[in-house]
Amino acid sequence: MRSFVRPGALAALVAAADVAVAQQSPFSIASTSDIKKTAATVAWDMLQYYHGNESGQTPGILPGPPPAGDYYWWEGGAMWGTLIDYWYLTGDTTYNDLTMQAIQFQTGPDDDFQPPNVTLSLGNDDQGFWGMTAMLAAEEKFPDPPADKPQWLALAQGVFNTQASPERHDDTCGGGLRWQIPPTNPGYSYKNSIANGCFFNLGARLARYTGNTTYSDWAEKTWDWMISVGFLNKDNYAIYDGADVSNNCTQINKAEFSYNNAVWTLGAAYMYNHQTGSDTWKNRLEKLVDHGLETFFPDGIAYEPSCEGVGTCTTDMVSFKGYIHRWYSTMTQLAPFMAPKVLPVLKTSTEAAIKQCTGGALGRQCGFKWNTGKYDGRTGAGQEMNVVGAVSSLLIGDAAVPVTGDSGGTSKGNPNAGSKPNSFQRPETPVTAGDKAGAGIVTIIIIGSLCTALTWMSIGA
Ligand SMILES: *[C@@H]1O[C@H](CO)[C@@H](O)[C@H](O)[C@H]1NC(C)=O
Ligand SMILES: *[C@@H]1O[C@H](CO)[C@@H](O)[C@H](O)[C@H]1NC(C)=O
Ligand SMILES: *[C@@H]1O[C@H](CO)[C@@H](O)[C@H](O)[C@H]1NC(C)=O
Ligand SMILES: *[C@@H]1O[C@H](CO)[C@@H](O)[C@H](O)[C@H]1NC(C)=O
Repeated sequence: MRSFVRPGALAALVAAADVAVAQQSPFSIASTSDIKKTAATVAWDMLQYYHGNESGQTPGILPGPPPAGDYYWWEGGAMWGTLIDYWYLTGDTTYNDLTMQAIQFQTGPDDDFQPPNVTLSLGNDDQGFWGMTAMLAAEEKFPDPPADKPQWLALAQGVFNTQASPERHDDTCGGGLRWQIPPTNPGYSYKNSIANGCFFNLGARLARYTGNTTYSDWAEKTWDWMISVGFLNKDNYAIYDGADVSNNCTQINKAEFSYNNAVWTLGAAYMYNHQTGSDTWKNRLEKLVDHGLETFFPDGIAYEPSCEGVGTCTTDMVSFKGYIHRWYSTMTQLAPFMAPKVLPVLKTSTEAAIKQCTGGALGRQCGFKWNTGKYDGRTGAGQEMNVVGAVSSLLIGDAAVPVTGDSGGTSKGNPNAGSKPNSFQRPETPVTAGDKAGAGIVTIIIIGSLCTALTWMSIGA
């Protein structure tokens, strides 16, 4: 996914706003049964954007990628994670079969979430989001797939191992993952906090689930690198978007997005929990959350400071609030001392979220500007997903702590999964003269669109 603005994403920005009429939201979070009812209705509304279970459609993905539809591949992975949490917290199994089918369809030929269809926009962060969804399925004991299908833990390990391979970690900027995976993709020269954040998050969780220190060693190393390169500000714990390798990551794009804070915060909570109360991780966690609450919850309501005020949030960005709500909630299970500080904020934020869900023909579609009290005229899968995540997460206090392999987990792993980090390079047929010419044209287009992306990035910074 991208904090870059991709050309296709612009269409969504331009096609904004029908008139917002002040209306009463039909939703309530006043009781457990209200919370479940609200979450169920918004989940249904969210799935109106999904057509992958209809004949002739592709299971697992939301319509896209642009220009074929609004959504990039990663957002499907994020949506299934939201629905796994939804099931875990509410007990509603309605979408479990749909979720199972969707995730299994996108695992790719090597069981590491690199399906050939998405090669042209495949980022480490995109692969990472699907990997975190598989990890969540293992931790929450989502039903295990049939024995002849890839298992949740093995899928998460597949993603981790491809990303830990030397092919993905070069010396530019002193280490770290690049944003994109195939060297020919626009954005390959960019290293960023979300790609490394997903890898860190998975490493911390795999360490806790399996007890294998290879994973926690990588998590520690990735944290240290983030500090050394300056993407994670060691004084105030701001996490910046990323930087280009061409000048050794010295010109940092300082835009802050809530999903970066959230993915690192949850990873830090897993490290804290795994290392039974480590002071180092406690301290890091507290600082991330202090910065996160201040930056992304002004007045106790979720806000996306790098795009919301100026109205430049892309389709990707308008899904970010759900992650910070869900991951901050889970964080309080792993580090319960954080609960008194965090849970009341998540509640006021969710109150605000449902209040603005008054849009569309049914008078209940959700927008993105939660702090205005009014529907902002623009809805979509991301806006609905945010509210599903926020509302269902209010039930976190009644939920069991995510399991490990030693505390009831049943998912089968494969430490050697993901042995083909470059499996996207899959020449199916011998290269012909025609293909070579085509490749040249693709390169020119790619260089063109990378310039566009970088221009946008510097405008945003
Ligand atoms: C696809 O799934 C949705 C949500 O469960 C359901 O409402 C719809 O009927 C399904 N469509 C088909 C063709 O199975
Ligand atoms: C890849 O794209 C083709 C053509 O749209 C589709 O039939 C196929 O199901 C897709 N595969 C995956 C894994 O998305
Ligand atoms: C590149 O950046 C890394 C991380 O900040 C640093 O450790 C390394 O010394 C830098 N290399 C050069 C050649 O400046
Ligand atoms: C620990 O994880 C690494 C990376 O996946 C793997 O290579 C190694 O075999 C694992 N060790 C054990 C004991 O499972």
